[in-house]
Amino acid sequence: KTLDDLTDIAGKRVLVRVDLNVPVKDGQVTDTTRIERVAPTIRELSEKGAKVILLAHFGRPKGEPVADMSLKMIAPAVEEILDQRVHFAADCIGDKAANAIAEMNDGDVLLLENTRFHKGEEKNDTAFVTALAANGDIYVNDAFSAAHRAHASTEGLAHHLPAYAGRTMQAELEALEKGLGNPKRPVVAIVGGAKVSTKIDLLQNLVKKVDALVIGGGMANTFLAAQGIDVGKSLCEHDLADTAKSIIAAASSAGCAIVLPEDGVVAREFKAGADNEVVDTKAIPADAMMLDVGPKSVAAVNDWISRAETLVWNGPLGAFEITPFDKATVSAAKHAAARTRAGSLVSVAGGGDTVAALNHAEVADDFTYVSTAGGAFLEWMEGKPLPGVDILHQQK
Ligand code: 3PG
Repeated sequence: KTLDDLTDIAGKRVLVRVDLNVPVKDGQVTDTTRIERVAPTIRELSEKGAKVILLAHFGRPKGEPVADMSLKMIAPAVEEILDQRVHFAADCIGDKAANAIAEMNDGDVLLLENTRFHKGEEKNDTAFVTALAANGDIYVNDAFSAAHRAHASTEGLAHHLPAYAGRTMQAELEALEKGLGNPKRPVVAIVGGAKVSTKIDLLQNLVKKVDALVIGGGMANTFLAAQGIDVGKSLCEHDLADTAKSIIAAASSAGCAIVLPEDGVVAREFKAGADNEVVDTKAIPADAMMLDVGPKSVAAVNDWISRAETLVWNGPLGAFEITPFDKATVSAAKHAAARTRAGSLVSVAGGGDTVAALNHAEVADDFTYVSTAGGAFLEWMEGKPLPGVDILHQQK
């Protein structure tokens, strides 16, 4: 059920779970993307005359109030993006919340304090869920990026109140369905980033679902080393050689092509502008490290992107945050963006560094969908159930 099913809600108290877990420096929000994503849901409910009560977590305060994890410091950024007054209550349950809600007019927006200031949030215990539910008539979940958590505000509330997906949740699920749920083939996945160890489940699931898996970033070195290639001083998890081999074997029996770099850009220092050279991956000097995949490899990746109908992308191909080791990531991102703009590719990207990499390549807006989720996007790509989504699907 979506907001389309919520028509007659003037005066109703709508508890909206949003993800305001945004980067903050010196008390200032440094990236407002997540706030911008939930703004349409808040505006729509407010325009329909609901009392919009925002629930969110910030950081990992372990069930107790922590001053620098107060959502109060996020409220001004929400206010600015909504261009509407956002009231704040210093607790998400009890008298403080109830009093603030009692003062709301129809269409008002109220932000409640960090749900994780209470132990019951992560435990998803009935007493806490009941206390939260007492503040609302309807529950809307617009926090896909927190949906891998079975917490009171992400899952528990849907057992207590009529539950609906917000606009961002809806868009995210539709995009993910196009990406891996029921994709147009061929499907190509690009997985990069530093370590294989954080993405074993992901790789194991993808080889069963996609037609080609491009492996880049530091994790490619582990795969190269598993094939007996000397990767010099490159980042490499030698102890995962057997895991890498088993992923290659699983890919081969599932008919999934594994695309590893044939050449790389190597340097002796990990710093912007470091002297570098392009070498065949079979000839990485003993004192050098691979910081980006090389031009031949980029051409191969772009060729796979050209053949794909669907692309899912998690993790950069190289150390994109330091030039000139951003070239492969930028080239592949621009190529995928161009094909998407031309209507020839469905491109879905997400997870931590990926959004930063696509922003760096200035193409994030051209992708079919860029998820702001980190862990939730990964778990979804790993094929794991997301409690916050599953409970919404169960709503009759
Ligand atoms: C995120 O930032 O990915 C989500 O808000 C979830 O946060 P968590 O990993 O602390 O549960």
